[in-house]
Formats: sequence, structure tokens, C-alpha cells
Amino acid sequence: NEIYLQGLGGAVPPFTTDPDALEQSARDRLGPGPFWYVAGGAGSGATVRANREAFDRVRIVPRMLTNATERHLGVSVLGTELPAPVMLAPVGVQSILHPDGELATARAAAELGVPMVLSTASSHTIEEVAEASGDGPRWYQLYWPNDPDVCASLLDRARKAGFTALVVTLDTWTLAWRPHDLDQAYLPFLRGVGTAIPFSDPVFRAGLQKSPEDDLPMAILRWVQLFTGTDKSWDQLAFLREHWDGPIVLKGIQHADDARKAVESGMDGIVVSNHGGRQVDGAVGSLDALPSIVDAVGEQIDVLFDSGIRTGADIVKALALGAKAVMVGRPYAYGLAHGGQVGVKHVVRSLLADFDLTLGLSGHRSPAELGPDALRLA
Ligand code: FNR
Repeated sequence: NEIYLQGLGGAVPPFTTDPDALEQSARDRLGPGPFWYVAGGAGSGATVRANREAFDRVRIVPRMLTNATERHLGVSVLGTELPAPVMLAPVGVQSILHPDGELATARAAAELGVPMVLSTASSHTIEEVAEASGDGPRWYQLYWPNDPDVCASLLDRARKAGFTALVVTLDTWTLAWRPHDLDQAYLPFLRGVGTAIPFSDPVFRAGLQKSPEDDLPMAILRWVQLFTGTDKSWDQLAFLREHWDGPIVLKGIQHADDARKAVESGMDGIVVSNHGGRQVDGAVGSLDALPSIVDAVGEQIDVLFDSGIRTGADIVKALALGAKAVMVGRPYAYGLAHGGQVGVKHVVRSLLADFDLTLGLSGHRSPAELGPDALRLA
């Protein structure tokens, strides 16, 4: 209503939120390096496409005369009340999209009361982002470093800076084959972007012979060594539990057995995610992976979802298949590219409004009313 009324006075929204048009207009604004770093996927792009195809295969079956005029979007996730079942996924190196980077995202998220998940690969420090976030809800995403002292230091800083939940990303222990980035030899980290969190860390700095400012190549090499490798096991999650007293969520789960292991390891939640199709080319669409995982562990821990969410209908579908909440990645990154804080807010607010309307028009008053019977295979 607000948009249509303003339209009477000749004002239109700052930019499109149609998902494809938004991506295209971000392409027009950004150079090919940053644009493809965000938009691209692993290998042939099969999993980026599979993520969207999975949504296309399920359709909502609307119900009538259900008194859905008044709706309540709030949900409880990890014991905390959220205004809507939506969060901002961790997206690293945001200063390639806008100079304010993660600070703009933190401010927009705080304005809307939507949790922001801050990436380990942030271009601003944990403390700077916390300050920008103010009283806003915030979670911290960990790329799990090989050095336990650096790991403990990052967790300590995040806790002190008011990040309440920890999201441990398991699917990116090395970067996938990403042809768009390889073709352009474009990797933001190697250009020193997105290194703020480790580079600002006193324990990380103490492990270097010279400060990152004085010897950038060595610092980057150490950074890469620290965050690359597979020598982790399910047992080692105990280390994270020891050093983090809030809820812990494992991100990148696609198999029901891994979801069960997360429960056995005492985790509080999981994110069913394939990193937006950026890691395993040819992997299953994330929404296709969701139902068997919800069957396996949905009663025991909070199952969150990401990879491919573009519209309100997508959120309805993921929740109907058992996700407690969803994370959205690229769309808000494109909003950031368009207008910093205002751009992120415009994208997220539009997505929330679209979700609210689709929920109501399909006959539901709250996320809790959604279940598999709201859907049919196309
Ligand atoms: C990501 N993602 C990501 N995930 C993570 O755990 N840590 C990170 O630093 C990043 N960085 C990152 C950068 C960019 C440019 C993108 C697009 C994605 C993955 C992200 O959290 C999420 O899983 C996907 O973006 C979800 O898919 P959609 O919504 O982009 O389709």
C-alpha cells in the first residue's frame, strides 16, 4: 500500500526487486570481478540452477476463507523470538559491493530487527560491525581455523561483541572450482579484501613475523593455510562447545546422516545449505535435500535453510517443508551494491512484504500453520 500510495505522488521504489532484474541491474553496476564473484557458482553452475529448479517443482496450494487478514510472522529460533523467519546469510568481502560493506548490512538488519550473520571473511572487523549493529540481533559465522588459539580468540571477540549464536560453515574447507573467478583471476581475499577479521585478530597477528600491513603476501599465505584443510572431525566440535557458551549451528548440511551426527554432537541447529551452489557442482538442489533432513532431526534441533531463496513464495515453500527459518544471500548483496544500507533494507523489506502477502493469500495466518499439505509437486 505504501508503495502504491507513494506512486500516486510520482515516487517509485529506488530499484527493482524482481529477482532476475535485480541481478541484471547489479551486473550493470558492478565490474565483472565483483559481479561474478557474487552471482557465480561452482563448475558448470548446475547446482545454482538446481537450487531454483527445486523451488519450481513444488507449488503452493492456496486455501480460501481462512481468516488470514491478520498475520503474525514471528518465529522462535534457537530460543530467541525473531520478527520473521528470515535472516541475512553470511556473505564475506562485502566491501567489493559497497564501501560501507558489512556496516551497511548490519545497520539495515538492525533497522528491520532481522538477524545478520557476520562472515569470518568480513571486510570490517567484528567490533566495527557490532557497533554498526547496535541493539540489532547478530550471529557470528565461523570458518573454522586450523589454529585453536586463533579460533578461541575469534570466538571470544564475537561473544564480547554481542554475537549470540555461532554458525559453523563446514562446506568450504577449500574454495571450489569457480570458472568465472578463475577466468578473471579474481579472488577478493588475495587482494586483501575480506581479511579484516583474521588480520585484526591479536593472536593471528602474533603468529606473523611482520604485521599484515608490512607483509601482505605472507599474511595472506598464513590466512589461506589457516582456513584450508579437512583435518577436522565430528569429535572436534567439542572444542567449539568449550569455547562458545551460546547456541551452535552447523551450516552446509545436505545429508540426513550428517544432520543426525549434528544432533549426536550436541549441536543446537543446522542450516540445510549448499552455499548457494558455490561449492559442489552437480550437488542436489538444497530444497530437495530438506524433507529427508527434517524427517530425520526436525523434532530435535532447529533446521534452517538457505540456497535459492528469492521470493516470498520460496520462503513459504521452505517453511512448509519443515524449515524453521531461511537465510537469504545474493539478493541482499545486490541490494548492497545498489545503495548500501538503504539498498539492503529495500530488498529485505520487500522480501518480507512479499512473504507476508503470499502467506496470507495462500490461507495461512502464521508460519506455524504451514506444513507439507500446503504444497503439491508440480
Ligand atoms: C556466500 N556464502 C558464505 N557463506 C558462509 O558461510 N561464509 C561466507 O563468508 C560466505 N560468503 C559468501 C559470499 C558470497 C558473495 C555469496 C553469494 C555467498 C554463502 C551464503 O551464506 C549462503 O549460503 C548462500 O548465499 C545462499 O544462497 P543464495 O541465497 O545466495 O542463493
